[in-house]
Amino acid sequence: MLSTAETLKQRFQQAAKAAYGLDDVDPVLVEATRPEFGDFQYNAALGMAKTVGAAPRAIAEKIVSYLQLNDVSEPPTVAGPGFINVRLKTDYLEKSLARVYADDRLGIATATPERIVTDFSSPNVAKEMHVGHLRSTIIGDSIARILEFLGYDVLRINHIGDWGTQFGMLIGYLREAYPDALTKSEAVDLSGLVNLYKQAKARFDEDPDFQEEARLEVVKLQSEMPDSIQAWKLLCAQSRRAFEEIYRILDVKLIERGESFYNDHLSAVVTDLDGKGLLSESDGALCVFVEGFTNKDGGPLPLIVQKSDGGYNYSTTDLAAIRYRVDVDKARKLIYVVDAGQRDHFEHVFAVARLAGWAAPPVELQHVPFGLVQGADGKKLKTRSGDTIRLQDLLDEAVQRARDLLDSRLAEEGRDESDEWRASTARIVGIAAVKYADLSQNRVSDYVFSFDKMLALQGNTAPYMLYAYVRVQGIYRKAADAAGMASTLSTATFHLAEPQERTLARHLLDLDDILAKISTDYLPNRLCQYLFELSQKFNQFYENCPVLGAQADVRASRLALCDLTARTLKLGLSLLGIPTVDRL
Ligand code: ARG
Repeated sequence: MLSTAETLKQRFQQAAKAAYGLDDVDPVLVEATRPEFGDFQYNAALGMAKTVGAAPRAIAEKIVSYLQLNDVSEPPTVAGPGFINVRLKTDYLEKSLARVYADDRLGIATATPERIVTDFSSPNVAKEMHVGHLRSTIIGDSIARILEFLGYDVLRINHIGDWGTQFGMLIGYLREAYPDALTKSEAVDLSGLVNLYKQAKARFDEDPDFQEEARLEVVKLQSEMPDSIQAWKLLCAQSRRAFEEIYRILDVKLIERGESFYNDHLSAVVTDLDGKGLLSESDGALCVFVEGFTNKDGGPLPLIVQKSDGGYNYSTTDLAAIRYRVDVDKARKLIYVVDAGQRDHFEHVFAVARLAGWAAPPVELQHVPFGLVQGADGKKLKTRSGDTIRLQDLLDEAVQRARDLLDSRLAEEGRDESDEWRASTARIVGIAAVKYADLSQNRVSDYVFSFDKMLALQGNTAPYMLYAYVRVQGIYRKAADAAGMASTLSTATFHLAEPQERTLARHLLDLDDILAKISTDYLPNRLCQYLFELSQKFNQFYENCPVLGAQADVRASRLALCDLTARTLKLGLSLLGIPTVDRL
């Protein structure tokens, strides 16, 4: 089913063609800024004046005379210098609502199932996942959920940092300091490992003999000596346990394909670049120069693909990954949800991949950057002692705080609820609060992490949204029972009489446009804003339009509006990775 905006754009394009024979008029369609202007405004006439050689107002009038919108809108009117105002017919809204209502997917069409690789989360072995990885995980998961719902074939790839020279250093250090960690899987947890890693690094920085030892360990690992490989696998497994626990709490699914996955494909990257004449040598390293990429002094900036010691690096792996995703996975789009600090890296790697012809159109490579999570002081979020915050601790604290707030609210309301219910509700609310706080921000900006704000019952927060769902659904359930109606109707006839009903209806019909936008700009905050406004519009409707007290046909229509609002909230939240609850 075409969305209203899409339908209008199509009709306007047809009219512009009929009037002027123009095929490529950009259908500039915006939401009307005030209700008295109608619902939409078409502004393309202004831009056509030059091509057509007429005044915009005359153009607008001519387009209107060719417009066929009878089934959708009242007769369009021309305003000001050449705007065309469109007011949707109530009958059109009512029919559209009925169609959406009868559909499990709420009228959202499915796309052609092309394959999209989403690369997100991607923490590093022997290091704690930090809040940057949390943002990547939450935003990446929501984008993947939305694309999946839209019908794309999404691969969720966890590009874990599980390879590199640091493993030589770590294994070398553990051989001396804590050999158990290399042979016994339960010997050390991730925090233990992180500490050992820090010690290894300190040793590496001050002891030249150890540096040589670490280098030899790297060689052993790269030549796949069995005990080195076994030690490395164990370190990865220890980290994986901790990562998987976080994914379980967040309900995020990922396929692990770490950097090591591409080891056998790295030399081909270099050989192929060489074969294409793209390789140069600089200080013993092999690199690619791409026009337009310069260093601070304005000189050409190389992308190094093989270091002078023969080792490969982060960029080489990303190039190999692009080739694999395009050639083997057959992906049409590659999306990287990675912090904005890596913008230059991705621009450079993408440029080389395109130059080498590894990502020729229609393949699209897209870095989806996000900003920092800041503490109250506006600086990068840290613990009080200045350490990186452990994600597990952060999530635990969110749940604990949600629990405290829940307990005190229940005490105030004099409600008696089981411990089990309290625990599971606090878990849902706490995690939802963390996710929603992140997703409701435009991802590009930095945001200040505040438990108080994200757990507040008022404002654009998860608790507010969960509460809105409980309330709307409760109204519907009770009212439907009282009216002797089955709780889930499959069909409904809508009658929109009051302005608040119309406003709510318009909003309910906008979901597919919102999702379509997110599928191209990857901004899930659009969906948060949409849901927030939906609950506000519902409240205005509910305050002004009696449901149970209304006449039978109006009552049925209003009940269906309640039901559709609840279903829309539930679907929308699920696309943000947030489950709903039936009471709070
Ligand atoms: N492991 C990297 C980090 O922690 C992120 C990897 C992102 N994905 C990629 N294909 N480079 O910074």
